Amino acid sequence: MPIHRRHLILAGAGLAAAGGLGVLGRRLLLGGTPPPGFDHELIAQPVALELVPGQHTPAWAYGATAPGTELRVRQGDWLRVRFHNRLPVPSTVHWHGIRLPLEMDGVPYVSQMPVLPGEYFDYRFRVPDAGSYWYHPHQSSAEQLGRGLVAPLIVEEREPTGFVHERTVSLKNWHVDEQGAFLPFSVPREAARNGTLGRLSSVNGVPLGVVEVPAGEVTRVRLLNLDNTATYRINLKGDAEARIYAIDGNPIEPVPLQEDYWLGPGMRICLALRPSAEGSEIALRDGPMRLGTFNVTAATGQGQPWPPRLPPNPLPEPDLANAETLPFNFEWAAKPSSSAAQASAPSLWQVNGVAWDIDDKTCADRPIARLRLGRSYVFELRNLTQYQHPIHLHGMSFKMLASNKRKVTPYFTDTFLLGRNERARVALVADNPGTWMFHCHVIDHMETGLMAAIEVA
Ligand code: C2O
Ligand code: CU
Ligand code: CU
Repeated sequence: MPIHRRHLILAGAGLAAAGGLGVLGRRLLLGGTPPPGFDHELIAQPVALELVPGQHTPAWAYGATAPGTELRVRQGDWLRVRFHNRLPVPSTVHWHGIRLPLEMDGVPYVSQMPVLPGEYFDYRFRVPDAGSYWYHPHQSSAEQLGRGLVAPLIVEEREPTGFVHERTVSLKNWHVDEQGAFLPFSVPREAARNGTLGRLSSVNGVPLGVVEVPAGEVTRVRLLNLDNTATYRINLKGDAEARIYAIDGNPIEPVPLQEDYWLGPGMRICLALRPSAEGSEIALRDGPMRLGTFNVTAATGQGQPWPPRLPPNPLPEPDLANAETLPFNFEWAAKPSSSAAQASAPSLWQVNGVAWDIDDKTCADRPIARLRLGRSYVFELRNLTQYQHPIHLHGMSFKMLASNKRKVTPYFTDTFLLGRNERARVALVADNPGTWMFHCHVIDHMETGLMAAIEVA
C-alpha cells in the first residue's frame, strides 16, 4: 500500500501542529503500545512513497514516512526506544549530536553489533542538551540514509522559551529518476568530488513542501539538513524577518539571517521567523532555487516580542591555557587503492594519512588520536582539498574558535562545515570515555575514507 503524498502532507502537518505543545508523552510509531519501560517503539521498514506523482519509490523509513517520525524528549530526561529492524538488511541507530554513552551510539562493531533483520535493540540514554538533533543508521549509510532512514530528534528546553509556535523543517534530496526508482547513492566519480547528489529535493518528505506559519507572530523553525550530500545555501525570499537562535542544537546570541547560510549535511539551525502579511508566501531557498514554501496564515493571537536568547546547554568549557593541540589533516588519498574494483568503496580520502575502510571492521582498533579523559584539546582542522567537508564528532560537542577564512564568534557544535583549504581551530574537553567516530558527513566521502576514530580513556 503506497503512502500517498496527501498522507505525507497530513503527517507533516500533524507533527508541526504538535510542536511547542510540550512532550506528547508516549508516541506510537506504528501500531501497538511501547513495551513497559519504553517511550517509543521505533520500526525501520520498507515503505512505498509517492515522491514522483503516480510513481512508487521503494523507500525505507522509521515509521511510515521519510524523513521518519519525529521523536521529542525533554532535556535531562531519558529517551527509551526499542528499535525493531524490519528491513532486509542489518542496521543500527545513531543519535546525531547527542552526548551519550558509547554503548548507545549506534556504530556497528564499535558500540554494538548490527541489529539483524527481525531483531530489536534497546536504546536508553539521558539527553543532556536541548536543541534540534536527528537520528540515522551508521551502517551502509549511503544506501540506508539515501532510502529515507533519517528523522528529527527534538530535545525541548525544560523551561518555556518564549516561543509559542514551532515547526520542524527537514530537508532531503532523493536519488530518484523520473519513474521514482532509486539511482546509485554513491558513484566513485562523484564521491571523489563534492559527493553524489540526489535529484529531487524535499521539505518534510514532500517535493516543494509547504509549511504554514502565522502572520505577525514569531515561529521557531527548526531547519535540519538530513541529506547525504547537499550543502544548502539557505535563504528566504518574501516579506519576513528571520533570526538565527541556535546552530546545531546550541544557542547563540540571535543574529539576523541575511544572505545564504551554508547548511552542510547533518547540520541544523534554529530560526525565529516573523512573516508580516497574511496570505503571502515566503520561499525557502537553496541559493536561487526554491526548496519549499512557508504559507502565511491568519494571526492566532496578539503577536509576541522576539524571545530572548535560548538557555545555554551544560557543556564543559575547554581550558585553552592548558590544552594540547592536535592537527587533523583532511586530504586526498595519495594512491587510490588498486583493489578498488573489488572493494565495495574505493579509498579516495584520508585523515592524517589514513583512509578508513568501511569493509574492515577493525579500523576503530587503530584510533588516530588518544585523548586523556578530562583533559582539554584544541583540534587544528586543515582541509587540504578543493571540496568542503562537514566535519562531525560523536560523543562530545566542540567549541568552534577560529578560522583562517572567516570571522568566528565562538560557539559549540557537533558538525563544522570546513571550507576548501580552510584551517579552523576547535576545542573540547575529552569528558566522555569511548572510541568516537570523527568523520565527514558527506556520506560518500565518509564511506571512501574520510572517517577516523578518536579514543578517550
Ligand atoms: Cu550523523 Cu557519524 O553521524
Ligand atoms: Cu553523529
Ligand atoms: Cu567530505
